[in-house]
Amino acid sequence: MIYAGVDSGSWNTKAVVIDGGARVRGTCVVRSGADLAGAAERAYDGALGAAGLGRGEVTAVWATGFGRQSVAFADGSRTELDCHGRGAAHYVPGPLTVVDIGGQDAKVIRIDAAGQRLSHRMNRKCAAGTGSFLDEIALRLGVPIEGLGALASGSAEPLELSSFCTVFAGTELLTLIRGGKRPSDLAMAAYRSLVKRIVAMDVLDGRVVATGGVIAHHPAMVALLGAELRGEIIVPPHPQEMGAFGAALAARDGAAAVGPSAGERAPLAAVEAPRHA
Ligand SMILES: Nc1ncnc2c1ncn2[C@@H]1O[C@H](COP(=O)(O)OP(=O)(O)OP(=O)(O)O)[C@@H](O)[C@H]1O
Ligand SMILES: [Mg+2]
Repeated sequence: MIYAGVDSGSWNTKAVVIDGGARVRGTCVVRSGADLAGAAERAYDGALGAAGLGRGEVTAVWATGFGRQSVAFADGSRTELDCHGRGAAHYVPGPLTVVDIGGQDAKVIRIDAAGQRLSHRMNRKCAAGTGSFLDEIALRLGVPIEGLGALASGSAEPLELSSFCTVFAGTELLTLIRGGKRPSDLAMAAYRSLVKRIVAMDVLDGRVVATGGVIAHHPAMVALLGAELRGEIIVPPHPQEMGAFGAALAARDGAAAVGPSAGERAPLAAVEAPRHA
């Protein structure tokens, strides 16, 4: 049996195709843009193409993410909190804390030993604690976001950005550039600043599973976050696609209508009503 999950995020739409044993058969990430429905179609077809499969072979596909209602072909949906937690708990036994850093929000989800969600914190109000902050800094430094990590790797002098807000940090950056500060040090300062916002969200102890595009593409974030934690930081397979993977697990469990299969942890929350059941 084949199942799929689509995570319609503010920045990227991710799709994951799995088999009945939860093995990942194909993934795809596309920019969400303004056409969320179209991005979902492209991501889904991309993941199926990577798996060498067609839509007709998929038993069920579920959606998650802020744009999940736009995924017209989905058989059901679940929240991002459920899917990121579910996906991470599949790889790492609880208790654990999931930290997901996306383009528009950052989430901290605490999960108990049974895989049940205990609590969550979410920042979607302040861009300074999300991937948008890095995007803005990269823009100001004149590099594509894909090049920010390479730029920061040349950092020699530890610098701090004092501004809390993304807009003010951008202005502060210009002042520092004018003052002769090196772009590589400023890039590293941006990572430090984002880590500061993340660790302020909640107590991050025990096993911390880090997911999202910021974690997947910025190794400096993993290193800096790890240095701030008392516990262990774990980056699971496909960190950026973790929400889509969790949605694919939900599709499998929803299709079987019996919850998680033997040996797996329980689902995190009630299923949202399927729209095409
Ligand atoms: N190829 C890349 N290179 C560098 N950074 C990237 C890349 N792709 C994504 N990012 C970073 O990851 C962020 C987007 O992460 P992700 O794809 O998890 O977001 P999302 O799920 O669409 O957003 P949200 O969960 O907030 O709705 C961007 O803001 C950017 O900083
Ligand atoms: Mg996301």
